[in-house]
Amino acid sequence: MRSDLTEFSDPILLINFKTYLESTGKRAIELSKKAEVVGRDQGVKVAVAPQFCDLEQVSTSVDIPVYAQHVDAVAPGAYTGHVLAESVKAAGADGTLINHSERQLLLRDIDKSVERARSAELMTVVCAGTSKLAAAVSLSEPDMVAIEPPELIGSGHAVSKANPEIVKDSVRRIRAVNPKVRILCGAGISTGDDVYAALKLGSQGVLVASGVVKAAKPEEIIADFCKAVRRFG
Ligand code: G3P
Repeated sequence: MRSDLTEFSDPILLINFKTYLESTGKRAIELSKKAEVVGRDQGVKVAVAPQFCDLEQVSTSVDIPVYAQHVDAVAPGAYTGHVLAESVKAAGADGTLINHSERQLLLRDIDKSVERARSAELMTVVCAGTSKLAAAVSLSEPDMVAIEPPELIGSGHAVSKANPEIVKDSVRRIRAVNPKVRILCGAGISTGDDVYAALKLGSQGVLVASGVVKAAKPEEIIADFCKAVRRFG
């Protein structure tokens, strides 16, 4: 049984594989297995978001939650080239990212994508680049909202240190309209200290990519992140 990410007590580490070659094809499986082993050894919830073509292979290779990187706001039918929520579910995904800053949607389509994902029994992580948008998308009642200022994404400058205000402001604005949703933050997170700082700001986990995927030894970075989660306690 895959670990359930709805219990908000434990922080989570969600690793977005984006379209990096280091996390494509066979390497997506290898990185997912490394994440699973480290997470299990450290007792920390870890999940991965591979590319669509790698979803099935990854989800049959590991027992940790697997997320798609996007689903479209479409129902089954004549939508050539779109990504149907039911198809990523059938490929073994447990959830999906929605409105990542590198795959943005109109507000009305964010709401529809959350609905579509929910009806396909997928967990939803809606990304937002500002605290105002983070509050707005939390009204769609996703399972999680991830605040990620685009200017820090891929920078190596952690949002939890370079712009802690945006995390605090997002937590405040989101909680004012949605007391239930899990709040993640991401962008530039690359050390355990960055993760610890993020948790201290009130986030209940982090969304990371290059700091892990581009690392020479990703398993060591994931272990460092897990130690920070355990230190936070
Ligand atoms: O979805 C995670 C992402 O946008 C953060 O990217 O490379 O700064 O960890 P990165």
